[in-house]
Amino acid sequence: MYREDFEILKTGVIYFDNSATTLKPKCVVDATVDYYTKYTANAHRGDYDNSLKVDMLYEGVRDKVRDFIHAKSSKEIIFTSGTTDSLNRVVFGFMKNHLKAGDEVLLTQAEHASNILPWLELEKEIGIAVKYIPLENHQVIMNHVLDSITDKTKVISLAHVTNVLGDERPIREIGELCKEKGIYFVVDGAQSVPHRPVDVENFGIDFLAFSAHKMLGPTGVGVLYGKEELLEELHPTAVGGGMNASFSSDGSFEYKSLPSRLEAGTPNIAGVIAFGEALDYLMKIGMENIYQYECSLKRYFLSQLASIDHVTVYNKDIGGSIVTFNIDDVFSQDTAVYLNHYHICVRAGNHCAKILKEDLQVKNTCRVSFYIYNTKEEIDELIRVLKKSKDIFRIVL
Ligand SMILES: Cc1ncc(COP(=O)(O)O)c(C=O)c1O
Repeated sequence: MYREDFEILKTGVIYFDNSATTLKPKCVVDATVDYYTKYTANAHRGDYDNSLKVDMLYEGVRDKVRDFIHAKSSKEIIFTSGTTDSLNRVVFGFMKNHLKAGDEVLLTQAEHASNILPWLELEKEIGIAVKYIPLENHQVIMNHVLDSITDKTKVISLAHVTNVLGDERPIREIGELCKEKGIYFVVDGAQSVPHRPVDVENFGIDFLAFSAHKMLGPTGVGVLYGKEELLEELHPTAVGGGMNASFSSDGSFEYKSLPSRLEAGTPNIAGVIAFGEALDYLMKIGMENIYQYECSLKRYFLSQLASIDHVTVYNKDIGGSIVTFNIDDVFSQDTAVYLNHYHICVRAGNHCAKILKEDLQVKNTCRVSFYIYNTKEEIDELIRVLKKSKDIFRIVL
C-alpha cells in the first residue's frame, strides 16, 4: 500500500516507529524542495509574484487543516512548531490568565510529558492543583472522570490516544461533560489526528494540539486549534513581526486579528506548504480507511505473537495501531538494538510518559506503531526475528 512513494523503504528498513515520527512521501519532500528552489519568498510581506504565491499556498493549507479536523473557521487554525509548542501556548497564553490558585486541572498518569510539564510549571507559578484521573486497566473510563470532577475543576487535558498503549479516550463524552460543567477541554491529538477521523466540533474540543511530522508531514510544524472566542483571549506567547498592526514611539501598539496575531515572526513556510501535501495524501486514502487498516495490522501482529511464549504484550485488548511489549527478562533497549540488527526500527523506553510506570508496573517497554505503508510481510519478518530472540545476547553483546 503506497510503498513506492516512500523512498526510504527502498533501503530495506522496516519502520515500526510511527508514533515517534512517520516517513515522508515523495510529494512532501518535493514540495519542500520546490519552495526552496522555485519560489522562495517570505509569507504575508511581499507584493511580488512569488510572495503572493507563498501567501496563497500557506493560507490554503490553513483551510485544508480546518476541513481535516472539521473546525468552523480558518481563524481557529494556528501554525506552531508542534504539539509541544501548541500545548505550551494553551497553558501559558490562555490558562495562566484564566486560572487562579486552587483551580484544579485533571490529567492522567499516562499523558506525554508535553501534557504534564506545562501544567506542573503553572502549578508552581500560580498555584493551580494538578490532579490525575485514576485509570482502570490503564484506560480512562467515564465513571472515574465524573468522580474526579469537583467544583474547583476548571480544565480537563487529555491525549485523545495515548502514545504508550494507544488507548483511545471517550473524547466525545468527556467533551459533552465539560460543556455541561463549564470546564475547558484540552486535547492532545498527537497520536489521534494522524490515524483516525477527528471532528473538533462534534467532539466538543476547546483546544486541540497536533504535529505534522507524525502524519507524513515535515518536522517543525504543528497546529493549535482553538474555538475562535477562546483564541481571541489567548495572549500571544511570542510577539514581533508579522503579527502587529501598528506600534509607535508613545508606547502604543496594536496586534492583527486571528490567526496572524498568534503567528509572530517568519513561520516554517516550506514546512507548512509541504504539510498541505501530506494532508492531501491522507485525505485521498481516507482517515477511516487508515484507521481500519492499522487496526487490521495490529490484529494480525497479535495473532502471530500469540505463538511466541517468551513475549509479554501490555495492550492486547486495546484497538488502534500500537503494540507495546517486552521479551521476557530482556531490557527493552536491548530488544530494540537486537531488532535493529535486522533493520527493524522500534521504540524502546518510557516513551516520554514517565509516570505511567506507576500504573503499568513496568518501567520500560518496546513499542511497535504502524502506519499506512506497513505490511503483513514486514510483521512476518518481525515475528521471525522475535521467535529466534533466544540468541539475543549473542547479537546485542
Ligand atoms: C501523545 C503525545 N503528545 C505530545 C507529543 C509531542 O509531540 P512533538 O514532539 O511533535 O511536539 C507526542 C510525541 O511523541 C505524543 O506522542
